[in-house]
Amino acid sequence: MYNFNYYTPTKVVFGKNTEDQCGGLVKEQGCKKVLIHYGSGSVRRSGLLDKVKASLDDAEVDYIELGGAVPNPRLSLVYEGIELAKKEGVDFILAVGGGSVIDSAKAIGYGVANEGDVWDFYDRKRQAAGCLPIGVVLTIAATGSEMSNSSVITKEEGWVKRGYSSDYGRPRFAIMNPELTMTLPDYQTACGCTDILMHTMERYFTNGGNMEITDSIAEGLMRTVIENARILVRDPKNYDARAEVMWAGSLSHNGLTGCGAVVGGDFASHALEHEIGGIYDVAHGAGLAAIWGSWARYVYKDCLPRFEKFAMNVMQVDPEGTADDVALRGIEAMEDFYREIKMPTSIHELGIDPGDDELKLMAHKCSIGCKGSKGSAKVLHEEDMYKIYKA
Ligand code: NZQ
Ligand code: ZN
Repeated sequence: MYNFNYYTPTKVVFGKNTEDQCGGLVKEQGCKKVLIHYGSGSVRRSGLLDKVKASLDDAEVDYIELGGAVPNPRLSLVYEGIELAKKEGVDFILAVGGGSVIDSAKAIGYGVANEGDVWDFYDRKRQAAGCLPIGVVLTIAATGSEMSNSSVITKEEGWVKRGYSSDYGRPRFAIMNPELTMTLPDYQTACGCTDILMHTMERYFTNGGNMEITDSIAEGLMRTVIENARILVRDPKNYDARAEVMWAGSLSHNGLTGCGAVVGGDFASHALEHEIGGIYDVAHGAGLAAIWGSWARYVYKDCLPRFEKFAMNVMQVDPEGTADDVALRGIEAMEDFYREIKMPTSIHELGIDPGDDELKLMAHKCSIGCKGSKGSAKVLHEEDMYKIYKA
């Protein structure tokens, strides 16, 4: 087991009607003025925004609001939010929505707490020295941003999608009511389940280190998500399945499933997806499902024991045959699962058709974003990235 730091300061308030507690939770933080940040309207339609405001009113907390965060959240709205928050003297941001809203809130928080251009952090030019405190009312189980240190923003100029990670950005609290996810389109539910699985797989498929407890947690989490994603395909209002997936989403990306693994995990599939999402604006989970099979077949021989273990312990494939056979059957089983929940298993199935020049450009941008190479299961360079996109 490698040395690790495990830091999860976010207070989790989980279960039915917990959104009613948001006013009190914000007040506990001792702040004076809140920016309620949300997306393109789902929280208005569901009535959640009104409930959040009522709870803040009850707690006598002052607030302003800024909607409009879109999937693959944009830098221009972040700049708008920073200006608004500074002008209004905001000292707390309440993100009501999914990963895109939370990430946009974190970026606004960095922009208010630090001088200069906030994009510098995403561009790896410097480190933030703070962030406004963030609270979350979560409406989709997916990114784990409600407990993670990450924020992913898309800069419209050049359509560059980049992540920034810092413990300053970890939310102070996360309100998670599984019922709030019942209004999600089936496609977004499936995208979320895919992203949750991927956050654990990115930490699981690494070389080196023995980590039995972490592996058991990771394998249990993945089996649970797969089982409950299947239930949600036929029964989207199933509370228990929603709850299992929602909690798994947070645990999958708060660091727990990577304790003792190679620091930083693999995360090549995420890096490859971020270029697709940045340029073609596809849903993050769908982009991951589309890329995963090609990535797995490209790297599995370099990380064979992990792929074999995954096949047997997670996908529960027959252990007969060579390690190679078992690993490949595990990859096939995972792709079959993606098809079952109606996720794409190739770039074409995402509904986009990049030509060879576009694939080369994505590989080039990806390698620049990764400072030359990415991955732990197998270290990938620009040429490898191109081959995976091509496959
Ligand atoms: O904008 P609204 O109207 O709210 O609609 C959203 C959006 O269209 C909708 N939605 C959310 N909750 C809903 C709902 N519709 C009906 N009922 C509800 N309860 O779903 C759509 C997708 O929302 P979004 O927030 O974009 O989804 P997700 O949570 O998957 O976030 C994706 C973004 O997070 C980044 C991704 O790259 C992507 O930009 N990631 C962030 C990470 C992090 N911060 O730790 C890690 C991830 O790996 C990921 O990269
Ligand atoms: Zn992700």
